[in-house]
Amino acid sequence: MTKSGAGRLIIKNAAELVTCSGFAAKRGAEMNQLHIIKDGAVIMEKGVITAVGTTADIVGPAEEKNCTIIDASGKTVLPGFVDSHTHLVFGGNRSEEFTWRLAGESYMSIMQRGGGIASSVKATRADSEHHLIEICAQRLDSMLEFGVTTVEAKSGYGLDLGTELKQLRVMMELNRIHPVDVVPTFMGAHALPEEYKGKKDDYIDYIINSVLPKVVFGKLAEYCDIFCEQGVFSITQSRKLLSMAKSLGLKLKIHADEIISLGGAGLAAELGAVSADHLLMASDQDLIAMKDSGVIATLLPGTAFSLKEPYARARFMIDQGMAVALATDFNPGSCYTESIPLIIALATLQMGMSPAEVITGLTINGAAALNRADRIGSIDVGKAADIVIHNCPSHTFLAYHMAINNVEKVIKNGRVIKIKV
Ligand code: NIG
Ligand code: FE
Repeated sequence: MTKSGAGRLIIKNAAELVTCSGFAAKRGAEMNQLHIIKDGAVIMEKGVITAVGTTADIVGPAEEKNCTIIDASGKTVLPGFVDSHTHLVFGGNRSEEFTWRLAGESYMSIMQRGGGIASSVKATRADSEHHLIEICAQRLDSMLEFGVTTVEAKSGYGLDLGTELKQLRVMMELNRIHPVDVVPTFMGAHALPEEYKGKKDDYIDYIINSVLPKVVFGKLAEYCDIFCEQGVFSITQSRKLLSMAKSLGLKLKIHADEIISLGGAGLAAELGAVSADHLLMASDQDLIAMKDSGVIATLLPGTAFSLKEPYARARFMIDQGMAVALATDFNPGSCYTESIPLIIALATLQMGMSPAEVITGLTINGAAALNRADRIGSIDVGKAADIVIHNCPSHTFLAYHMAINNVEKVIKNGRVIKIKV
């Protein structure tokens, strides 16, 4: 499937054209403004949006000549979703661990006795590059079904040079062969590998000296991320790795303050990370520091749900004027789901977000969390024509019709690539 744009395509008569208009992250009250056009239309040419407005204003006989027309009467049209935090590339599965968690064992206790991430590391090391590409392409197909047109993916199931680079090459190849765009993140500091037991500082040095330079030299990642958590990597270790990654030109993300309040959110502010993610236990002070430094709060309600953790304080963050993005955290352990409808249900019903705020978190703010708010995440002239038609009369139905996938057509770079029959 080619990634280049198609000929002219018009969507017209949309009950709601939800533009999410904007070229930067939306903060605070702005998150509730979706910029909806009733009886909306959008014209795309060569993969780019060329006109946006009411059907009456922008579509006439001249525009309709020599192009494909989609009648979206009674439907809601949105930008493609941007899933800005996933662990897409891994071998094997952890279904057994899921049953242990259901029986009451905690995520961290499974991790501490050598299961959890370590078990996915074993499977990912053993899997071939070819097979990983095959299974991950299927995962991307599934994401596409939910209207996701761009996804971030993290390495971190290799924890050695060869396998980390293998994971990143898999992402590069997926980006080439699959219509969904894949944004690569290097997360070599996702856990401590068995070989470095008791030598965490040495492992961070190994990542800094032996892996990171090769990732940067090979242009294999845009971001560097680390699991900054008690029992995993400390603030000092996180600062050391992330500062080095930044000096080498990578942008930063951080798994911060998920299980205890360690100060990862504050570190994100200090280092100017693009986002800090999870944040269930982040302190008020660190959240305000994030806001002041323009760090996006990426919230992952699927993980809190799956781990039976308390949800992140989305209401507090938005009311303080922060920019919040939402993502799945798709991974084999703490949150094995690609389901955007599940995320929408949890964010509205459990975190007190409005349907509009949730849509902002999954579109323009997701794009901003990947430094792409200038190119994707909204239906604005000049942006990539990544657009999804939902079979429902208003955006509210995305939350109201709970956990149901309303996606009918997905348009990626101006081409219709998914049609529900
Ligand atoms: O974001 N917190 C660390 N990393 C992932 C889980 C990865 C795994 O369990 O495989 C997360 O939840
Ligand atoms: Fe994660």
